Amino acid sequence: MKTTILKVNPRTPQQAAIRKAAQLLQDGQVVAFPTETVYGLGADALNATATRRVFAAKGRPSDDPLIVHVARVSDVQLVAQRISPLARKLMRAFWPGPLTIVLPAKKSVPSAVTAGLPTVAVRMPAHPVARALCAAVGPIAAPSANTFGRPSPTRAAHVFSDLHGKIPLILDGGNAHIGVESTIVSLAGKPTLLRPGKITVEQLRKFIPSLEMLTTVKKHAKPLAPGMKYRHYAPRKPVILVLQPTAAAMQRTVRAEQQRGRRVGVLCSGTYHVAADKAVLVGKTPLSAAKKLFGALRWLDTQRIDVIVAEGFPEKGLGLAVMNRLRRAATTIISS
Ligand code: TXA
Ligand code: MG
Repeated sequence: MKTTILKVNPRTPQQAAIRKAAQLLQDGQVVAFPTETVYGLGADALNATATRRVFAAKGRPSDDPLIVHVARVSDVQLVAQRISPLARKLMRAFWPGPLTIVLPAKKSVPSAVTAGLPTVAVRMPAHPVARALCAAVGPIAAPSANTFGRPSPTRAAHVFSDLHGKIPLILDGGNAHIGVESTIVSLAGKPTLLRPGKITVEQLRKFIPSLEMLTTVKKHAKPLAPGMKYRHYAPRKPVILVLQPTAAAMQRTVRAEQQRGRRVGVLCSGTYHVAADKAVLVGKTPLSAAKKLFGALRWLDTQRIDVIVAEGFPEKGLGLAVMNRLRRAATTIISS
C-alpha cells in the first residue's frame, strides 16, 4: 500500500484534506492525524473491521484498548453508558484537551476498541485537525500512530518511518506541541489515575481529592490499564535512566559504559556539560522535556551509539508524565 503524506494547516485545516481523510475513515480505512499530544492512528470507532486494522498496522496486542476521540460531548453517549456528574465536571474543566476519561462502555462498542473490557476511554482533542475529523466522521478510535512499543510520534515523519506501506494516509500538521500522550483517569470504579500527562495530578485533585494512583493500587488479576504492562516508548537501544542526575552521577554512568567499549548517547537537560559520544538537549523545564522527549529518543536511535543514558527529571507536575515514559523506556534504572 502506498502511504500518502498530505500537509494540512494545523490552525485552519483545509477542507479538502479533511474531506479526503474523512472519506477514508468512513470507508473503514485507517488514517494518521495530528493531535495536541502526539499523532494518532484513527479508525471509525463504531466499525469493528476498521478498528481491527489499527491493531494490524501497529502490531498492537489485542488486549490493549484504544481511546475514542469525539468532537462533542453528546458523542460520548454513543460509546459510554452514562456520564456521571464528576465526569461532566472534568469534561467542562479540561475538554477539549489532553484528558482521557474511562467510563462504563455501551455493549455496542466493538470489542477491539475496549479489548473486551466493560469500559471505554474517551477524550475530546483540542487540535483543530483532530476536531475537524471527529466532527466529520463521529467517534474515532485512535492510539498513538507508532509501531507497538516504539516512542510515540510527534511529527508526520515519525509516523511515516514506522507505518509506511501499512496505512494509506498521514495528515501532516507539523509538530505535536505537548509531546506526551493524554492523562488517563478512570471513573469506572474508584477514581484512579491510569497514566500521567499534561493535565497534572495536582489539577485533577482539585476535582477529585481522593484520586488514587495506579502505582499505589495493588496488582489486579486484570490490569486496569492493559497497555501499561509492556515495555513501551522504547528506542531499540538500551536506555539507562539516572534518577538523581547530578553532573557527577551522569558522568560516572557515561564513563562506565564507555569503559566497556560502548558508544554513549545522552538525553539531558543541558544543566551541565556531560562528555558523551552524542548528546541531545531536551531543555530544563518539564514542558520542553515533554515536547522533545520522543523525538530525542527516536533521533538517538538513528545515531552510531550503543546505549542511551537519560537524565531523570523531578517527578511532579508534567515531570511525572515525562518520567513515566522514561521509566518505561528504560532497561536499567540507577537510583543512587
Ligand atoms: O494523547 C493520547 O491519548 C493519544 C492521542 C492519539 O490521542 N493516544 C494514545 O493512545 O496515546 P495509546 O497508544 O496510549 O493507547 C491508549 C491507552 C493505552 O495505554 C490503553 O491501555 C489505555 O489507553 N486505555 C484505553 N481504553 C482503556 C480502558 N477502557 N481502560 C483502561 N485503559 C484504557
Ligand atoms: Mg501508544
